[in-house]
Amino acid sequence: MAGDESTDVTRALKQDLQTDALLGAKGVPVSSARIAELQAAGEQASEPGEARAQAQRGPGSEEKVEQLRALQEEHVRDCTVCHLSETRTQTVFGQGDPDARIVFVGEAPGFEEDRQGIAFVGRAGQLLTAMIERGMGLKREDVFICNVLKCRPPNNRTPSTDEIAACSPYLFQQLQIIQPEVIIALGAPAAQTLLNTRDSIGRLRGRFHDFYLSGAALMGPIVPLMPTYHPAYLLRSPGEKRKAWEDLKMVMERLGLPIPEQFR
Ligand code: URA
Repeated sequence: MAGDESTDVTRALKQDLQTDALLGAKGVPVSSARIAELQAAGEQASEPGEARAQAQRGPGSEEKVEQLRALQEEHVRDCTVCHLSETRTQTVFGQGDPDARIVFVGEAPGFEEDRQGIAFVGRAGQLLTAMIERGMGLKREDVFICNVLKCRPPNNRTPSTDEIAACSPYLFQQLQIIQPEVIIALGAPAAQTLLNTRDSIGRLRGRFHDFYLSGAALMGPIVPLMPTYHPAYLLRSPGEKRKAWEDLKMVMERLGLPIPEQFR
């Protein structure tokens, strides 16, 4: 997987930002009632992004809190569906606003995430936080951040197809509960899993794709999904940050968020 080390993250981040003006700048069954609800919303919503606005029949934020809690405590926390449960310290469900407009999806917990039980808190996580807060002008707690896998693969290796198949239903369920206005897929495994494609991240990034909230292509409401580079890759290839920033700006424009003067 994208390497995520637990070394001195603050120092590393500062160094990184100093050199970077840009950012200085078997899863869980989905109930048939829920699918019907999503389909009904989709029939009403002709344009991507309208799903949330029109899916007011979806759960309110208190319900979202409860549904996410139930998913975490009853399914994810003690999950033993795949063998990663044997090597993890704990599952990493993800965290943030259950009613977030934006959900960021990464690949899998790394060393620090496995230790703390929180997504994106290692070195890559520090960069993601800077992208959200210093770049997009949002607060980390106002978005939702999670991963395709809820358990750390040993030595941060790339998740296997079997592991993704076992774990991704949890992610789909999270997205169905939150119903964000935009999903940002960080890196190839997240983008490929959510879009059911093998295309490279270089080909996928830079434009919105349709993500079907029902989990089935062409069924139900669509959430626009922006693939972009994983922050761990950006740490290794800082020259690509400009492209990642272009991707984030497209998301901000779509959501009507103000773009800081220096990034226009
Ligand atoms: N990389 C990821 O993809 N997710 C994390 O939570 C941390 C690093």
